[in-house]
Amino acid sequence: MIRRLGRWFGIAAAVLLCAAASTPTTTPSSPTLAELMEPYQRAESIPFPPDDPYSEAKEQLGRMLFFDPILSGTRNVSCASCHNPGLSWADGRKLAAGVGQMELHTPTLIDVAWVPVLGWDGKYRSLESVAFGPLLAPLNMNNTEPEIISRLTGIPGYVQAFDQAFPGAETDAKITRPNIEQAIATFERTIQAARAPFDRWIAGDDTAISESAKRGFVLFNGKASCADCHQGPSFTDFSFHDIGIAGEDDIGRGRLFPTGLKLQHAFKVPTLRDVARRAPYMHDGSLPTLEAVIDEYNTGGIDRPSRSSLIHPLGLSADEKRDLVTFLKTLTGDPTPFEVPTLPR
Ligand code: HEC
Ligand code: HEC
Repeated sequence: MIRRLGRWFGIAAAVLLCAAASTPTTTPSSPTLAELMEPYQRAESIPFPPDDPYSEAKEQLGRMLFFDPILSGTRNVSCASCHNPGLSWADGRKLAAGVGQMELHTPTLIDVAWVPVLGWDGKYRSLESVAFGPLLAPLNMNNTEPEIISRLTGIPGYVQAFDQAFPGAETDAKITRPNIEQAIATFERTIQAARAPFDRWIAGDDTAISESAKRGFVLFNGKASCADCHQGPSFTDFSFHDIGIAGEDDIGRGRLFPTGLKLQHAFKVPTLRDVARRAPYMHDGSLPTLEAVIDEYNTGGIDRPSRSSLIHPLGLSADEKRDLVTFLKTLTGDPTPFEVPTLPR
């Protein structure tokens, strides 16, 4: 996908260069609709890393663990309590609440297989490494590693599921932290958004989205410059920016890079797939609707040294704002019925 993005920029650059070299007096023509659509074609397969390859048994085990509240200290919070498939794998709350009240909004897990570094500030290096964080965090699921392993070991259905997911010598310990991490990560990589009207449109069905949404798509890639950051099959380039909304003490990625001026108040660019189903928005859940999001970008937010140079007041008219919202809604497909797995007991 990165390669595909690179190619797109390559084409754009080549067009600019050729135009500049051969006809210095004419401006390069703006990209065609087909060229604008190209970067958003979805990937054909999910990338599974070589050190945690896919298997159906691992996915099934990971799915059970993801939905099982027995993993929390209080036995009543599961990963799915906050990453709920019916709410676009988020929770519909402003700020996450598990065993205690947290200070961040729950991000969606859609297309998480492609996210290179995880968490709003990018502090986690892989899906495997983020699995135990919520399990042990006191405000989240508040459990301990020995307790988790002992509870799972006491349930024959889990003993069998771990045996199937991690074949090996019978004497090997199967219910271990690395195996729990691998199973959960394998399941998470399978979480993708349903096909949306937008996908049908770029596949050639001209009637799949409205004229207003088509205008919105052009604005998204042009005047509103959303695609400067929300580009690619998941509508994100996975970079970090201060878009001018975080408060004074809310420094995001700045905590990891105290001297990086542009990383103060910076947060990860989230996917926009299925975005209509997971209000409220942003790392702090501060914007209640898509209309509020567009209004915020239209003002340019807080003008300060850390604010991304790509963010500026947009001067959008009321009609343009409406077209953008209409377009964003075309990224949300029909809800796909999701079967909660039967939990071993
Ligand atoms: C109480 C609510 C809650 C529960 C329960 C919870 N999470 Fe999360 N999850 C969050 C919040 C909030 C964040 C953002 C954390 C951050 O940015 O540091 C997050 C972030 C993540 C991310 C990073 C996503 C990204 O794109 O950066 C992954 C992956 C994840 N959680 C998986 C899990 C798994 C697996 C479980 C169960 C073991 C789980 N979560 C349980 C609230 C929750
Ligand atoms: C400079 C890069 C950049 C540009 C340009 C940009 N965004 Fe964003 N977008 C971000 C970042 C970073 C976040 C997360 C910010 C946060 O949580 O504080 C975000 C978050 C969002 C969200 C919230 C998604 C969620 O799940 O919470 C929406 C919706 C959104 N942007 C839409 C847009 C639209 C529409 C435009 C154009 C008007 C746009 N963005 C332009 C970087 C950008």
